[in-house]
Amino acid sequence: MAKLISGKAVSAALRTQIREETAALRENHGIHPGLAVVLVGNDPASQIYVRNKQKACEEVGFRAFEYRLNENSTQEQLLDLIRVLNKDDKVHGILVQLPLPKHIDEQTVILTIAPEKDVDAFHPMNVGRIMIGNYEFLPCTPAGVMELIDSTGVDLNGANCVVVGRSNIVGKPMAMLLLHRNATVTICHSRTRNLAEVCAGADILVSAVGKPHFIRADMIKDGAVVIDVGMNHDENGKLCGDVEFAEVEPKASYITPVPGGVGPMTITMLLKNTLHAAKLMNHLDD
Ligand code: GUN
Repeated sequence: MAKLISGKAVSAALRTQIREETAALRENHGIHPGLAVVLVGNDPASQIYVRNKQKACEEVGFRAFEYRLNENSTQEQLLDLIRVLNKDDKVHGILVQLPLPKHIDEQTVILTIAPEKDVDAFHPMNVGRIMIGNYEFLPCTPAGVMELIDSTGVDLNGANCVVVGRSNIVGKPMAMLLLHRNATVTICHSRTRNLAEVCAGADILVSAVGKPHFIRADMIKDGAVVIDVGMNHDENGKLCGDVEFAEVEPKASYITPVPGGVGPMTITMLLKNTLHAAKLMNHLDD
């Protein structure tokens, strides 16, 4: 029987800490952390994400600024808004919700966000800084996964870690963060040969594939730590991860559920980055 890693519990503890630090920052320095969230278009999932981000900001005492552009807004209109936010002292973090409408180039948009306000850590400057281990912001999902792994107390030094998935947002930075902690890291993807065998060598397995039922019991080493980044819907429309939980759980030592695992951590790490941005901008770095 694996122990469940509760993203809700880890997240709640971190948010309490963020709320206390925010109160102290406002009281002692008159600094009020602010996050600008920009949504282009009416994608229903994005609308829910944006609402949750704003709610989370308010709960820890941040200012949340919401900007909604309609589906037909031009790229230049979006870039103009970002340039205004870059110069606004009340805004410490800028998040442009992805995906963007097809006529807008995502990379151009990300490049326009001031790196010191890029709380998603998507700007090439921040991506590069992660590569060399000299960073201010970590991308929210991999950073949340690291917190969950650390909550188990497992030793990453020399551990075999397998990351399944190679996206810019999760797989690649995830591998880098594990490498910085002296793990031996393998990245697997759709072309990987003998995937089950490679996964079965993992002391820690992180799955960020986006397919239900993808990780099965034969891919798990006895006693492995299993982290499920997947957010999928199964045949019945029910939210599920990549991991076939019922058959994997008995073999694992620790496992994250979906929902209630990685999901709650992502917004928490966004809050952490925004608080850090507010401190950095006011030379109160810690
Ligand atoms: N869309 C889905 N996940 C994310 C995220 O982490 N950041 C942004 N900006 N958009 C997203």
